[in-house]
Amino acid sequence: MALISFFSAKGAPGVTSTSMLVAALWPRPTLLVDADGNGGDLLMRLPSASGLALTQHPGLLTLLPLARHGLSSGVVLDHSQVALGGQQVLVGLETSEQAEASAALWPTLARAFREVPGTDVVVDAGQLAARSGQLSLVQRSDLVVGVVRAEPASVMHMRERLTVLTQTFAALGADAPRIGLVALSGVQRQDEASSAVATVRADFPDVLDLGQVALDPRPERMFHGDPVSRPERTMLVRSGRSLVERLVAALGPAVVLDTGTDEHETTDPTTEDPPSAPGAATGQEEPADGIPEGGPAGPAPDAGAGEQDAAQGERRRRRERPGKKRWTLR
Ligand SMILES: Nc1ncnc2c1ncn2[C@@H]1O[C@H](COP(=O)(O)OP(=O)(O)O)[C@@H](O)[C@H]1O
Ligand SMILES: [Mg+2]
Repeated sequence: MALISFFSAKGAPGVTSTSMLVAALWPRPTLLVDADGNGGDLLMRLPSASGLALTQHPGLLTLLPLARHGLSSGVVLDHSQVALGGQQVLVGLETSEQAEASAALWPTLARAFREVPGTDVVVDAGQLAARSGQLSLVQRSDLVVGVVRAEPASVMHMRERLTVLTQTFAALGADAPRIGLVALSGVQRQDEASSAVATVRADFPDVLDLGQVALDPRPERMFHGDPVSRPERTMLVRSGRSLVERLVAALGPAVVLDTGTDEHETTDPTTEDPPSAPGAATGQEEPADGIPEGGPAGPAPDAGAGEQDAAQGERRRRRERPGKKRWTLR
């Protein structure tokens, strides 16, 4: 299935919100992965489907330790949570040190993300640099999308970042991901968004023009858990739909119209791992990457084995019956 990563060069142009917008509007079920190397913030943004807070466990902190031993395709969703509105999310790491320390595990994760049954994966990679730990996930994406504000400083930093990233990706030869660019600008300032993208593409003609996402503060509040009425009528969502159309076109029918593959065909048998509970210890030795088995805090202290089994069972049931994509984030 498809793997799409969003990143920024500097500042906070709106990578997290744009990733959430795309994940919510995507034509197939999606898993939204918070891979921001400076520490994830999805956790703080949205409540869970039950109205309680999302929690640090399960998430990347419980999944990454398992990646040391290879990951089976089915295990990823066991570490996800369901946010308000029905979006499956994999909450991120706490610190940039964890992201750097776990760099060697990201390729295994990338492989597992591509094999999540019936689900495309949207990655919020946050600010990306050539030495970012999460780069080894990002560079295995089908499409890597830079997010800029239609402002000179934001555009300049993106040009500098693309100079480095295109060199890094060039070393991958035929496996290099395609790069696209989307600009955020005010509803009345589409021309500025077009010229921001055109300025970057003058230096990088292979970068895909993915158009504009509207800066539309009122509906954007839904990505902070606030109620928003009729979001589908807003410029934010309309521009989001156009972005999704462009992304689908860029990925091509081979990726997007494939309605899912047989798990057994896509699973690399060399990475097969017996199913294990989120946070379950799988090794004896102190790991070299700094992330203890089960995450830094270990399994949640108040989660007994029975509760963990029940939570895992619930996640598995959802995975087996992926719900229809719901837009509302109420
Ligand atoms: N399309 C948008 N319309 C209005 N405000 C937005 C939009 N996208 C992001 N924002 C706001 O911009 C700020 C940064 O967004 P965020 O997604 O957290 O950026 P990043 O992930 O790049 O740091 C937040 O306050 C967010 O609410
Ligand atoms: Mg962010």
